[in-house]
Amino acid sequence: MSVKRESFGFMPDGKEIYKYILENDAGTQVHVLTLGATLQSILFPDQKGEMTDVLLGFDTVEDYLTKSNYQGATVGPYCNRIGGAAIDIGGRHYELVANEKGITNLHSNGEFSFRLWSAIVPDADRVELSYVSPDGEGGFPGETSVQVVFRLTQDNKLSIRYHGVSTRDTYLNFTNHAYFNLNGYAAGDILGHTLRIAADLFTPVDKNSIPNGENVPVEGTPFDFRKPKKIGLEIEADHEQLKMTGGYDHNFCLSDAPRALTEIAEAQGDISGIKMNVYTTLPGVQFYAGNFLAGKEGKQGVPMTKRTGFCLETQFYPDTPHRPDFPNCLYKAGEAYESETVYAFSVPEAEENA
Ligand code: BGC
Repeated sequence: MSVKRESFGFMPDGKEIYKYILENDAGTQVHVLTLGATLQSILFPDQKGEMTDVLLGFDTVEDYLTKSNYQGATVGPYCNRIGGAAIDIGGRHYELVANEKGITNLHSNGEFSFRLWSAIVPDADRVELSYVSPDGEGGFPGETSVQVVFRLTQDNKLSIRYHGVSTRDTYLNFTNHAYFNLNGYAAGDILGHTLRIAADLFTPVDKNSIPNGENVPVEGTPFDFRKPKKIGLEIEADHEQLKMTGGYDHNFCLSDAPRALTEIAEAQGDISGIKMNVYTTLPGVQFYAGNFLAGKEGKQGVPMTKRTGFCLETQFYPDTPHRPDFPNCLYKAGEAYESETVYAFSVPEAEENA
């Protein structure tokens, strides 16, 4: 195992941004930027043994600051959406930034995602990034201190552990917004990937992508991914919820509360054979099929067009501050938020043939 550090460029205020490269003995690499605690690349050999970068992203600081749809970024203090862009805690009202259609708050307006984080290397298999969000930043209460540890194992698992604590009662909901293309970032759309998600219920939304009622069974709908199926199989089906969001862009309900690390999803690239199993302690996952990617040029100038990447954003459910029936993510002042999500990579055929 090794961790190397390189310069990645400079923030507009002149501060240096670093890229940390984690590499295991098999040659698998994970690249993490101190800009936004961003996962920039995951390099893993495909079924032919060719190194494949399975993440969408950019090559330069400028691109990350001007073209990003949160590619690989750490999102917080509250990922996904908050209806009405306001929250009430303990009798106090907090106005947030209505950065989506002037109505909702999405991904906390990027509060965590475009900041410079500090980094340490506590061990030869991991990098730990830290950020302190000042009281009131983005409208959120409390000075919130966050650590995110990216760790690569010898058996090709990327573990992301989050720790957060605030000086005031507040809602905390962190995620990583990696866009995966397991065939490689330049391989075109992800519709031929197979996907399985271990969820019996999903969260229907209104036209602003805010949950609009009960979580409903996936049974008998295009949202049933309990057995592996191609992402493209039913993405254009005549289903009200798919029309509302232009394709999959929904929370899948995994559990009623945080729990021990549990396997919740698997995806496989149809061209590369690369398989990814996802584990999390969190109760939900947003499956977003990259419907809004609109052709901005990413790594090596390759355009990221509609559905060339998909996200499995582990999370608490969207709009939890307004939904007492959802698993709770209100943390008391001084109370620690903890979660872990693991992305495990393999090429099953290659192992069977070995
Ligand atoms: C949301 C999408 C949004 C994307 C980029 C996802 O988490 O669900 O609707 O387009 O993030 O902001």
